[in-house]
Amino acid sequence: MYPKRLSDLIEELLYGEDGYYTRYVRIGKRGDFFTAPHASPLFGYTVGRFLQREGVKILLEVGGGEGYLAEDILKSTDITVLSYERSPHLLKFQWKRLKKWGERWRTVGELVEADAYLLNEVLDAFPSNRYVFKNGRWYEVVVDEGKFALIPSEGPKHYLGPVKEGFVYDEGVGMEGFLKEIFKKTDRVLIFDYGYDEEEFPLLAPDGTLQGYRFHRVVHGLDALTERGDITHFINFTQIKNIARKNGFKAKIYIDQTNFLLKNGLLEVFESLPDDEKKRLAPGMKTLILLFRNHRVLYLTR
Ligand SMILES: C[S@@+](CC[C@H](N)C(=O)[O-])C[C@H]1O[C@@H](n2cnc3c(N)ncnc32)[C@H](O)[C@@H]1O
Repeated sequence: MYPKRLSDLIEELLYGEDGYYTRYVRIGKRGDFFTAPHASPLFGYTVGRFLQREGVKILLEVGGGEGYLAEDILKSTDITVLSYERSPHLLKFQWKRLKKWGERWRTVGELVEADAYLLNEVLDAFPSNRYVFKNGRWYEVVVDEGKFALIPSEGPKHYLGPVKEGFVYDEGVGMEGFLKEIFKKTDRVLIFDYGYDEEEFPLLAPDGTLQGYRFHRVVHGLDALTERGDITHFINFTQIKNIARKNGFKAKIYIDQTNFLLKNGLLEVFESLPDDEKKRLAPGMKTLILLFRNHRVLYLTR
């Protein structure tokens, strides 16, 4: 049997017949991990306000999870939301939560035309391969006869940043093709995710960014592959900006998530709420501002 690449293993573990996203995923307090829409509806209200100001009437959300972000955008704007979701399990949650919106929300089975596309923590959920720079050259981590092994490799396909001895890099697979399809269908793409620019990886994550989440516990590195939970890695924003450029898009906004929310009216949105609602949402707003420190926003326009 040939050694198996980690991306093939992760694909199976996440999206295979018995995969985490196919059958088991739960997001939020009772689940395995938190995302911003689960921390506070103020996230969706602020993102909705931004999109509305950008003139978006029809939005396609990719990987909307349990549907919280779509719901908060539907509630706070008059935008129509289309949902393209890979996980049949999460789609059931979305249907339950959002079917009441009738004409304003529907699911699509393929990427269709829309004024804008929205991706919150989707690209980090693509499978990744792991590379190690050792003795002046690259190796790839594979699974050979049930064990992890290193085989000589040409190195990551898209990483052009600095390297140093012992550096481990986890590279997402399949993003380029996926983004290219998206770029054919829209003029605007708004991406929220955790990640770094290329040159930051060896400094901020020299041991790699592969990690797993199970019941809100983080497992770093290859151990993530033996948990029955979410498996993820930090995305390379330089790579995404390069792919965008090649496809005629430019980065109109590239900023950390907290600043994006503050600049786009998070506090005004909060202040506009009735007092009891303010009281109820204050802890979530604090979480939104403080917890998502590695998250960035990339807004690509043609
Ligand atoms: C970490 S979850 C985030 C869910 C949601 N956006 C949130 O913020 O709560 C990743 C989401 O991306 C979806 N996903 C991953 N790959 C996808 C793909 N190729 N097409 C559509 N959805 C995808 C997953 O099914 C899941 O809904």
